Amino acid sequence: MKLVFLGPPGSGKGTYASRMEKKFGWPQISTGDLLRAAVKNGTELGKEAVSYMNKGELVPNKIVIKLLKERLSQEDCQGGFILDGFPRSIEQARELESITNIDYVINLVVPEEIVIYRQSTRRVCRECGTIYNIVSVKPKVEGICDKCGGELYQREDAKEEVIKKRLVVYQEQTAPLIEYYKEKTILKDVECNQADVPPEVMLNKIIETLGL
Ligand code: AP5
Repeated sequence: MKLVFLGPPGSGKGTYASRMEKKFGWPQISTGDLLRAAVKNGTELGKEAVSYMNKGELVPNKIVIKLLKERLSQEDCQGGFILDGFPRSIEQARELESITNIDYVINLVVPEEIVIYRQSTRRVCRECGTIYNIVSVKPKVEGICDKCGGELYQREDAKEEVIKKRLVVYQEQTAPLIEYYKEKTILKDVECNQADVPPEVMLNKIIETLGL
């Protein structure tokens, strides 16, 4: 299965994609994670990308597409994958079509006040990237990752003004993909109207929607 998870920042793409990977074995490919790894490793692409990320803007296509192509060419992606955060514009969707075909696009429909709240309370493991929330998805020990013992941190782009900018960028550049994929009849909406629905409940809703 080749899936795309679409939705505003903080809608749960990473949370559900990682659980879906665990259940079905299709690797989660987050362009945000690929970019943050490039920044952490000090690569040339990372150095170019960081200023866009910290401002909440989209990183230029040439950088993102290079990272994505490299990742998709790896052995573990040949039996399917879950794209988390790509495509983010019609241009990127067309680029993706030139690389591979997508089976379904899961469109996470979540009210703006919930995505803002979730982003400001999110914490991420510095070592393995596992996503937590200090209100709803707490680690067993505060500040420490359950899986690897790594330190939990708040992302650079979790500042209020950056969160707002990312939401504007989403509406302007990414939301047009909803209509785009609706026309291709591969879009499936999954709604979440409450901040405290457990991720496992939402994951089951996605699985049911896909008929898996
Ligand atoms: P990226 O890392 O992709 O960020 P994003 O798409 O803005 O999404 P987030 O990671 O903020 O949210 P999410 O939907 O994954 O929610 P999460 O699961 O964490 O991109 C970062 C930057 O990289 C971009 O701004 C851009 O600069 C660049 N970039 C990336 N891809 C690019 C591309 N294709 N082109 C150009 N530039 C690109 O959940 C949020 C929180 O809610 C967590 O704390 C979670 O624990 C909590 N939570 C609690 N209960 C639930 C529940 N039921 N469901 C979901 N989450 C829950």
